Amino acid sequence: MPFYHKLGEIPPKRHTQFKKPDGSFYYEQLFGTIGFDGMSTNSYHEQRPTQVKEIKNQYSVAPKIAKANNMQSYRLHGFKVQPENDYLQSRKIVLSNTDCNIILSAPKSSTEDYFYKNTDADELIFIHKGSGKLRTHLGNLNFKYGDYLVVPRGIIYKLDFDTEDNRLFIVESYRPIYTPKRYRNWFGQLLEHSPYCERDLRRPQELETYNESGDFLIKIKKQDEIFDMVYASHPFDVVGYDGYNYPYAFSIHDFEPITGRVHQPPPVHQTFETDAFVICSFVPRLYDYHPKAVPAPYNHSNIDSDEVLYYVDGDFMSRNDIDAGHISLHPAGIPHGPHPGAMERSIGKVKTNELAVMVDTFRPLKVTEEALKIADSDYYKSWLE
Ligand SMILES: [Fe+2]
Repeated sequence: MPFYHKLGEIPPKRHTQFKKPDGSFYYEQLFGTIGFDGMSTNSYHEQRPTQVKEIKNQYSVAPKIAKANNMQSYRLHGFKVQPENDYLQSRKIVLSNTDCNIILSAPKSSTEDYFYKNTDADELIFIHKGSGKLRTHLGNLNFKYGDYLVVPRGIIYKLDFDTEDNRLFIVESYRPIYTPKRYRNWFGQLLEHSPYCERDLRRPQELETYNESGDFLIKIKKQDEIFDMVYASHPFDVVGYDGYNYPYAFSIHDFEPITGRVHQPPPVHQTFETDAFVICSFVPRLYDYHPKAVPAPYNHSNIDSDEVLYYVDGDFMSRNDIDAGHISLHPAGIPHGPHPGAMERSIGKVKTNELAVMVDTFRPLKVTEEALKIADSDYYKSWLE
């Protein structure tokens, strides 16, 4: 997150003595990214954060690839993914490449008996259904329908849900997730033409601090495997931190759409960037207002990007037979566009209530076995008249 945040108690100068009321020391940790070049946070712990007690299990969570090379458009029925009690087990990778995994998840239960840490990837968790609290060692964030939760790699977290009815769309990104560079000035401040500003980004305001010893299981993801590591101190033992590297939330409902006289291209919907894919938010908005405007998108060849749309809510004017929870995959290399009749019925429409999240990847996506379980194999013929 490209702005400074401070929470809890910290000493006036970094890397200096910081003592507890009983005269013993707090333990400082510099939590850096991209070596010492990226965003970092200095945190202060009740106990040393290095106390590994035991490494128990190590098991693969690599996606099972069904189609490594894909030229077929797909529709996936996301809500057909069966709810499961456990959060990690509920995460089903449906599309994957060397830069990211696209995951559907319907967890019924909060993470109770373990903590989770992804060391390889930033996680962008979009809340389609459900509400609750993201609890991390750098503070908590309440979440509800429409929130993007950005959890940078290495943040130890748990998810508390209010009910059993939860649907998450998750992008696990091996490339750091940032706000779009073109919307930032040279200091990192979001500019006037940005569709959102700092006030819309929610930072942790509540810090849970436990000075406890015992057995604390952290499930740590590294290189497509989970390591069950037992620590001797509670992972949430931070009394304070400051810096730029922390989790934050942004609601899709706070994205201000950019409109025009003629059809605006997808970059106006861009919400986050990496150097390997973009994430866009399609939100309720007024349509184009040229007297001869065609509100439906034109056919387009995203010749070198795979395009993934996750449909959240509202009407989806350019598609026939698309519902909330569906994913469409339009692969690089071939054109796609409105379904038959969609362009014609868009004429004269003045607004849309659609809500969708798009992920455009610059490298092709592989289709997994989990995806084929919920796929419409005939979708690729749906433009035939
Ligand atoms: Fe498209």
